[in-house]
Amino acid sequence: MKHLIDILDLTTEEIDELIVTANDIAANPDKYATKLTGKVLATLFFEPSTRTRLSFEAAMLELGGSVLGFSEASSSSAAKGESVADTTRVVGCYADIIAMRHPKEGAPVVAARKAGVPVINAGDGGHNHPTQTLADLLTIWRKKHTFNNLTVGLCGDLKFGRTVHSLVEAMARYEGVKFVFISPEELKIPRYIITDVLEPLGIPYEEVYNMEDVMSDLDILYMTRVQGERFFNEADYIRLRDTYILTPEKLVPAKEDLVIMHPLPRVNEISVKVDDDPRACYFDQVLNGKYMRMALILKLLEVTV
Ligand code: NCD
Repeated sequence: MKHLIDILDLTTEEIDELIVTANDIAANPDKYATKLTGKVLATLFFEPSTRTRLSFEAAMLELGGSVLGFSEASSSSAAKGESVADTTRVVGCYADIIAMRHPKEGAPVVAARKAGVPVINAGDGGHNHPTQTLADLLTIWRKKHTFNNLTVGLCGDLKFGRTVHSLVEAMARYEGVKFVFISPEELKIPRYIITDVLEPLGIPYEEVYNMEDVMSDLDILYMTRVQGERFFNEADYIRLRDTYILTPEKLVPAKEDLVIMHPLPRVNEISVKVDDDPRACYFDQVLNGKYMRMALILKLLEVTV
């Protein structure tokens, strides 16, 4: 049985296949409308979410399946002290596949061992968020038609931003990719990403503070929110949260085919004035996320497409 805990659980060939399926779903939704009739997805969300949970639910409904679950830990037996292992083992009796979001890093791994059905990590603490990466990859593919030879700038909270960690792992597997990490000192990319992911593959990267210094080099600019809920200290959050605000003025030196991304929710990092720029792709990511989750659920349930 296959789970998706880390984006590296999928080979680049499998990602290519998911992109083909997602594009076909977008073009021919009727073909997929009854593929999962009688199947059930459980969404176990121990942490707040709008897009990811609703996107999983919409994905399952559009495949003809049904959904059950909870959207906060307080409405599950976690509030009574039940372990993740036990909750998932129970839910595995009601559902054919589980999407789990949890504030603790590694919780979906524990779930996968006990569930008896495929488990998808829908975000674990400040660690990983592989299905957001699938949405990001489809967005990049649709704009660039390649993952090779791209200079990828990631800006904001690179320390706690789990979508950043998964995207770097995924993009590091393609030829000629360079990373530019734009962050304050306190929110730098975790060292394990440098030592375990980039250095062994000899992938070039730079770490800078000013977005303006690198804007003209970038093919992708991936903005992120400062993850206040993972800070231990409110004063640090308030001091750092508005470090980067992307405005039309800051985009003046940028490439004409720059792809501007953000996993959302946006707080202040991108001025709403950027939304009408044709390079702004953050709302495309939302729809792409639904198509990729549909393709992923079909794959993990081993349904032929
Ligand atoms: C992200 C997440 O939950 O990590 N959101 C999402 O899933 N689209 C990013 C964030 O919360 O900042």
